[in-house]
Formats: sequence, structure tokens, C-alpha cells
Amino acid sequence: MSDDQLIIFDTTLRDGEQSPGASMTRDEKVRIAKALERMRVDVIEAGFPVASPGDFEAVQAVAAAVTDSTVCGLARALDKDIDRAGEALKPAASSRIHTFIATSPIHMKMKLRMEPDQVVEQAVQAVRRARRFTDNVEFSPEDAGRSEIDFLCRVIEAVIDAGATTVNIPDTVGYNLPHQFGELIRTLIERVPNSDKAVFSVHCHNDLGLAVGNSLSAVLNGARQVECTINGLGERAGNAALEEVVMTVQTRQDIFSCRTGLDTTQIVPCSRLVSGITGFAVQPNKAIVGVNAFAHESGIHQDGVLKSRETYEIMRAQDVGWSANRIVLGKHSGRNAFRTRLNDLGIEFETEEDLNNAFSRFKDLADKKHEIFDEDLQSLVTESGLEAGNEWLKGCLLQGDRGTGQQPYRVATLFRKQHHQRDGFPGRGDGASAAGRPHRQRPGGRYGYRDRFRQGLCERAQQDHQARGTGASPARGRIGPMRESR
Ligand code: KIV
Ligand code: ZN
Repeated sequence: MSDDQLIIFDTTLRDGEQSPGASMTRDEKVRIAKALERMRVDVIEAGFPVASPGDFEAVQAVAAAVTDSTVCGLARALDKDIDRAGEALKPAASSRIHTFIATSPIHMKMKLRMEPDQVVEQAVQAVRRARRFTDNVEFSPEDAGRSEIDFLCRVIEAVIDAGATTVNIPDTVGYNLPHQFGELIRTLIERVPNSDKAVFSVHCHNDLGLAVGNSLSAVLNGARQVECTINGLGERAGNAALEEVVMTVQTRQDIFSCRTGLDTTQIVPCSRLVSGITGFAVQPNKAIVGVNAFAHESGIHQDGVLKSRETYEIMRAQDVGWSANRIVLGKHSGRNAFRTRLNDLGIEFETEEDLNNAFSRFKDLADKKHEIFDEDLQSLVTESGLEAGNEWLKGCLLQGDRGTGQQPYRVATLFRKQHHQRDGFPGRGDGASAAGRPHRQRPGGRYGYRDRFRQGLCERAQQDHQARGTGASPARGRIGPMRESR
């Protein structure tokens, strides 16, 4: 391995699954593993085969399904665990056994009830046994973050001599601070005489919200593998979030002297898949994968981003798998963002005064409603434009249902004020040919921005058809507000 490669070891399927309530079926694990492989994750920890027959089968199924990433199984430093992991990993094109035993005073005394010498001996035996199945063996001194440094050095030297190719330093209880954890990694690499024979890895928990910070500090101090999970899933407060580690290293290449080989455009799809399967929602303001991660609401920010994206964005939304950044219209938004969004909807103002009037109505509405959607904007413009004539557009209904298999379509309806009569020009199928055409053919019609508004609705309908296809979420209902018939 070259010194500038940072190995990404994903443990969503093992530590991630240890989040209470996040258990996954074998097939779900295979789907996630395939998504991780597409993202070019280096190592996928698929489970803990001795834990249950289901876990064994899941590791076996992932091992059979994945060819481009190394598939890893976890095992305590016990013969039966290691043999079970070795067996489950047989179908893998490339396999790794990850064996561990605790090394902190509290774990050795209270949990294992073992003397330190016994722990070293068992660790060495475990690594030797794992080497019978694969030459890719990882050893973790559990609770390394609270272990004594001299003892840690002793264990690590012994397991590397026994054949461990990766030494993983877990901050099992998320106790360390970044400067301290970085210092620990540097000290271990400096003091363990055979440290050059293994890759140093880190595995940080997020009990104090420092998992990513600790992992990155370790990388700056020589670690070349980070163990992490999608969306930061994991035991208790979770593990270091893969997306944050990877994007920090990529974004701050001025600081990091290593790179990952990941296809970062797969991050958001993978995050969504994991969230959908586990039922663990991603908080909106979650870095990289939260829906607000690339959304701008403040007028000053929106104006800046519209002029030059880099004013308020350090990454491109597309680079992590979003289709684009998002300008959120709300009470903090400015005129530039308002006008730009309306232009995107095909609506232009004939005069500055029209724009100002609409903008002032927009601000009134934004005081009452957190987020202003395109549908709200269309309504705002309708109120100013169409009521001026003797007719108005009542609304734009989205019809068709996800259950029926029917192609969703929109219907725009024009009402004549004077006759209380519905002209109606429903259009279906592709939106541009729908509601707009009858209008333009209508003799004596006015052609101001209300026509462009109609056109905007139609084009929007068309975009939605393309974006959603027939199946997605058309049943959301109307896109334009239904106003009272008069
Ligand atoms: O947190 C931890 O210490 C672990 C080990 C098994 C690596 O998950
Ligand atoms: Zn862990």
C-alpha cells in the first residue's frame, strides 16, 4: 500500500448494525454491501459470524456477492469465533479476519477477568489462528483509548510478530480528545519496533461527538485506515461517519497527505439506502448527507451563491451525489433569489414594480410559513396577475395516482369571472402541450407574464413527469393552490 492511500473500512453492517433497532436481514446487508462496493469502499466488515446463524449467513452472502472490496468478519480472540469467521468468508474473492481482545485495565479486570500476560498470549494465539484462513488479519486492542501505553505497545508488537497486517486502535467508548488521540497514534507508530510491518487503523465512537475529529487527527498522525459507518450509525452514539471523514480528506487536500479511492458521488445514494433499510432518519442538518447540507436560506448567502457558488460552499453538491444545491426561499431570502427562482419557473416580471409587489407579498407569506415552495410562488403571482383580467387560473392539479399505474398529469383550469363558467383546458401527458396551448389559441387573450406563468406551470409539470416517472410520489396532490371558485 502506498503511503498516500487512506483505506476506508466500512463497518455499517457490523458496528452499524449494533445500533439498537438497526438490525438488517441478509438480503438487506447484501444490498448495502453492493452499494458500498459501488462506492469503492476498500474493506466491508459484513458482520460477526459467531453471533448468530443469521449473521453467519449474512457474512457468507456478502462474501459471495462482493468481488471488488475485501470482505471482513469479526471474531473475538477465541478459536470458535475465528473458525466461524474463516468459514463464513470462504466465498470471498478477498477476505479479512478482524480479531479483538480488550486491553484497558477496567476491561481486563472487570470484564475478562484476565491478567495482562494472559491477554497478550490470547491475542497472539488468535492472530496465528486467523492466519490459517487468510493472510489478511486485523487485530484490535479493544478500549485502546483507555489502555496503558506501555502495555498497548507490548500487545501490538506481539500481534504484528504473530502476523497481524492491520492494527486497529479503537476508542471504544469515545473518551478521547482529538489532540490526545492523534498523539496516541503517533506514539504507537514511533515506539512499536515493528510498526512498519502493519497498517495502523482507527475506530472511533461518537459518545462526545468527536468520532470524526479523532479519526482525522489520527490520520494526520500516521493512521492509514479509518473505520467508519454510513450516516455515523453504530453502537450507542455511533461511529465516525464515513461521508464526513472522506469528504474532509478530499476537501482539505492542503492539509492531508493521503487520499481515498472512493467514488464520492455514491455517498448520498448509499446514505439513503442505509437510512431506508434501517429506518434511521438522517437529521436535516447532518453534514454532507442531510437535506439541508447544500441548502441556502439567508438572503446574503443566496445572493452570494447565485453570483459564485464558492462564496458559501466548500464542496459541490454533485460531488457527493446530490443533483444540485438548493436555494430555499424563506423569510431570510432576498430579491435576487426570489427573481431567479421565478425565472426558473418561467415567470418573468414586466416591470420592477410587478417584481416589488410580488416580493412584498412573498415576504408577508414567508413570515407565516417556514419554507416557500414553487407552488406558493405560483400562487403569489397568480394573485397579482390573473385577477387583473376578467379571468383567472384556478390552479394546477396533479392527477393520477401511484396505485393506479396511470401516468400522472396536470390540469390547469381557467375560470371566467363574468360567467362563473369553467373554460377548462386540461392537458395531460407531457406538460408543455397541456394547459398552455388552449390559452394561446384563445382569441383576444392577454399575453403578459400570466401566459409565461401558465407556460411555467406546464414546463414544471413536464420536469416533474421526467423526474418522477409514473411511479414515484405523484399522489402528493395539487401543485397550485385551489382558490375558491367564484
Ligand atoms: O468499538 C470497538 O472497540 C469495536 C471493536 C470490536 C473494534 O467495535
Ligand atoms: Zn466499535
